[in-house]
Amino acid sequence: MSSLLADKKAVVPTHVAIIMDGNGRWASERGLPRLAGHRAGADAVARCIKAAIQRGVSYLTLYAFSSENWSRGPKEVSDLTGLLRYYLRHKVKELHAEGVQLRFIGDLGRFDTSLREELERAEALTRNNKRLVLLLALSYGGRGDIMQAVRRVAQEVRDGWLTPDQISEELFTNHLWTAGVPDPDVVVRTSGEYRLSNFLLWQSAYAELVFLDTFWPDFNEGHFATVLELYARRERRFGARPTATV
Ligand code: FPP
Repeated sequence: MSSLLADKKAVVPTHVAIIMDGNGRWASERGLPRLAGHRAGADAVARCIKAAIQRGVSYLTLYAFSSENWSRGPKEVSDLTGLLRYYLRHKVKELHAEGVQLRFIGDLGRFDTSLREELERAEALTRNNKRLVLLLALSYGGRGDIMQAVRRVAQEVRDGWLTPDQISEELFTNHLWTAGVPDPDVVVRTSGEYRLSNFLLWQSAYAELVFLDTFWPDFNEGHFATVLELYARRERRFGARPTATV
């Protein structure tokens, strides 16, 4: 273990959130169809979950399908949802045995009934697991999340449960799809792109950002370790002044 990690053991992030990008480019570099990139991306998901457990991270959020992804052609959408279905059918038992709690965030109503039922079953089965909470962002958009929270809060005001001055940041946070989950400490994006792409917009207000050049299908335990190491080196101030050095 590097001395940096030995010294900073206490600063393992509680919540790591990842924008998994580069499946398509990984495939095209190899002359393969995009689906091959997404399949290899699903293998990288398994490596990432394993690394998160080993490193003692408590929450891992993966951006698996954005609200914008619906506009990809019908073939790619059905490839992605098919892969998700396959993953749920074949991996949930294993994740359950590993103590992983699954949670799905996003506009899940856009998926067909049978997929929604599989998502609900996976959540119900793993509900009491404590080792790692894995959030899969599906049909997810940060603005969409904020909008649905605004609508629910407005409804509660209209119904007389709340007055406008009772709307606090904490109350609003508790209406987001991520209610009950601490904000991400670090947001990672792979593939050399430097954008948030509508991911966890409210929740990432103070997150450290890490951009990796690697395409997602190549992501492995070593990259996960690099993320933790970069995070451990950052001084988080949450808007406060730097700590005085003596
Ligand atoms: C971005 O790559 C990735 C996605 C749109 C989907 C992410 C999906 C997976 C990692 C696989 C399935 C996941 C689970 C949980 C089973 P891109 O296609 O935008 O790549 P590009 O920018 O190179 O075209």
